[in-house]
Amino acid sequence: MRKNPADFSEQTLVIAGAAQGIGKATAQLLHERGARIVALDISSEGLSSLQTELSLDKNQVHQINLADQDAVFSTIARVQSDHGQIHALVNSVGIVGPSGINIENISWNDFEKTLAINLFGAIWLTQAVIPSMKENAYGRIAHLASIAGKEGNPGMSPYNVSKSAMIGFVKGVAKEVASFGITVNALAPAVINTHMNANTSEETLKYMISRIPMGRLGEVDEIAQMLAFMASKACSFTTGFTFDASGGRATY
Ligand SMILES: NC(=O)c1ccc[n+]([C@@H]2O[C@H](COP(=O)([O-])OP(=O)(O)OC[C@H]3O[C@@H](n4cnc5c(N)ncnc54)[C@H](O)[C@@H]3O)[C@@H](O)[C@H]2O)c1
Repeated sequence: MRKNPADFSEQTLVIAGAAQGIGKATAQLLHERGARIVALDISSEGLSSLQTELSLDKNQVHQINLADQDAVFSTIARVQSDHGQIHALVNSVGIVGPSGINIENISWNDFEKTLAINLFGAIWLTQAVIPSMKENAYGRIAHLASIAGKEGNPGMSPYNVSKSAMIGFVKGVAKEVASFGITVNALAPAVINTHMNANTSEETLKYMISRIPMGRLGEVDEIAQMLAFMASKACSFTTGFTFDASGGRATY
C-alpha cells in the first residue's frame, strides 16, 4: 500500500519557536500526524506547557536562545544523539524588533539583535542540520519569512531586512542541496492572529487588513497546514521557494 505522504510516523521533526503562535500550532498538528516533535524555544514556560499538552519527554524540549550560535549547534547535536535522524526542521522563531521607527533613529543594537534572532538563527539552524540530512539523503527545511520581506513595511527596517535576507538565503542554499533529497523553503505570511501582534495598534492592524483582499487576519492553523506540507515527503519537487499565505495580498 502507498504510504500517505502527510503521515509523519517514525519521523523526528525539530520545531524552533514551538512555545506559542505559529510554531506551537505546527507542533500540535504534526504531533497529531504522528511525528516525534522536538521543540526549541527561549520561553521555558511555553515549552513546559507544550510538553505537558503533548506528553513530550524531557529530551524533546530544549530551552535555547537562537541568537547564540554555540547553543544552536550544541542543541542540534544533542537532538541527533538522543533521537537520531532529523527528518525536518521548521523554524518559526522571530521577533518584530523596532517598529514605527524610521531608519535614521534605529539603534544599531536593536538592528543587530533582530538580525541575530530572525536571520542568523535561521542560518545556524540550517548549517547545523544539513550535514546529517545529506548523509541520510533526505531532509525538509521550512523557515518563516514574512510579507515584510517581499514588500517592506515602513518603520521596520531590521525586520524587513531579516526576512528578505532569509528569502535570498533559502533560494541559494536550496540549490546547494537540491541533489541530496533535501528541500529548503520559506513561507511568507501576511498578518496572522498571534501574540506577535498583541501590541500592534488598532489603526495599524486596520491598515494591514485593508491590504488583504480576504479582509481578515490569517489564523495559525492555516499557516500550520502549509508548513506541514513543506515539512513532509509530499514537498518533493519544490525548493528554494517562498510560499505565500497572505489572503491574496501578494500573488507572487
Ligand atoms: N504573526 C504574524 O503576523 C506573522 C506574519 C508574518 C511572519 N511571521 C513570522 O512567523 C514566525 C512566528 O510568528 P508568531 O506570530 O507565531 O510569533 P510568536 O511571537 O507568537 O512566536 C515566536 C516564538 O519565537 C520564540 N522566540 C523569540 N525569540 C527567540 C529567541 N531568541 N530564541 C528562541 N526562541 C525565540 C518566542 O518565545 C515564541 O515562542 C516569526 O518568524 C514571524 O516573524 C509572523
